[in-house]
Amino acid sequence: MPKVLISAKLEQEGVQLLRAVPGIEVIETEPLNGDALVEALRGVQGLIVRSETKVKADILEKTPDLKVIGRAGTGYDNIDAKTAAARGIAVLIAPGGNTVTTAEHTLALMFALARHIPQANEKLHKGEFDRKLIGVELTGKTLGVLGLGNIGAVVAHRALGLRMKVIGYDPVIDAERAGEIGVDLMPLEDVIRQADFLTVHTPMLPETKHIVGKRAFEICKPGMRLINCARGGLVDEAALLEALNSGRVAGAALDVFEKEPPGADHPLVQHPRVVCTPHLGASTSDAQTKVAEIICRNVGNFLTGKEYVGRVN
Ligand code: NAD
Ligand code: MLT
Repeated sequence: MPKVLISAKLEQEGVQLLRAVPGIEVIETEPLNGDALVEALRGVQGLIVRSETKVKADILEKTPDLKVIGRAGTGYDNIDAKTAAARGIAVLIAPGGNTVTTAEHTLALMFALARHIPQANEKLHKGEFDRKLIGVELTGKTLGVLGLGNIGAVVAHRALGLRMKVIGYDPVIDAERAGEIGVDLMPLEDVIRQADFLTVHTPMLPETKHIVGKRAFEICKPGMRLINCARGGLVDEAALLEALNSGRVAGAALDVFEKEPPGADHPLVQHPRVVCTPHLGASTSDAQTKVAEIICRNVGNFLTGKEYVGRVN
């Protein structure tokens, strides 16, 4: 009988779908790592994780029974999908399950950044009625979107509804698709040069590491505002700090960090012009139910020889 280890806190709507598959045994644990994960995967064919469990080569070398890893989300940089493929292990993600939720979080952060909402809230909680917190309008401003996949496209669509001008960079999509989304596709540096607000929605890959780095902050518009709801390593944090301190960048909104949790004394977390959230991009009950259902259904299908979607390796 195939066993599936869920090494994450997963919505029960999804878990129940998997439990209902005849012949599958489900084991739920808190997020495991290292030796504890290897031990728990003895005799187990399926593994479901979120981002807390790291499934790199050191783990995959010691899990001979594993056949499929399901990522209850989109970004799978916590899984070594290449090594998994070489060892005959399929990696599945939950495409689309958290797209709208993460796009909405991006927009929430963009508004918060434009109007200093967290700072104003914090001051008022302390009894300070500060009406000098002057913001900027979004209407008429240019939003640069790096990565026009599922989330980038929804962000662009919503931003067009706010009457922003939307430009973007994505080496994979063509002008026809960009036209459907309503985005002017242009080279990376042109997007960075023209954006009033810049938002990142690429996967974390060797070629996207620090896609917004020192060079970006040299060429960007003075007063540009940055939003990162994708992955910490896409933005060079040291370069961002320098750009904020020099005034080149007016503000940043960060949901993700190079190291998570970043620590309370992290200079970006403490920066007065940074708005931040603790990797909450996908955290709505709606999205968590959807990703749990998608991944449990597909891992179940994979293990019982039925059609499945979301394979990335
Ligand atoms: P997606 O695969 O649909 O889209 C990614 C897009 O990036 C694709 O269109 C791809 O062509 C493009 N891309 C690839 N390389 C690029 C490059 N070098 N430059 C520019 N674009 C490039 O993925 P998605 O669902 O839109 O999610 C994007 C990322 O957001 C995920 O990989 C994940 O890391 C992150 N994410 C974060 C949260 C969160 O909680 N904060 C939630 C969901 C997703
Ligand atoms: C994702 O890539 O889907 C997000 O980071 C959300 C999550 O970690 O669950």
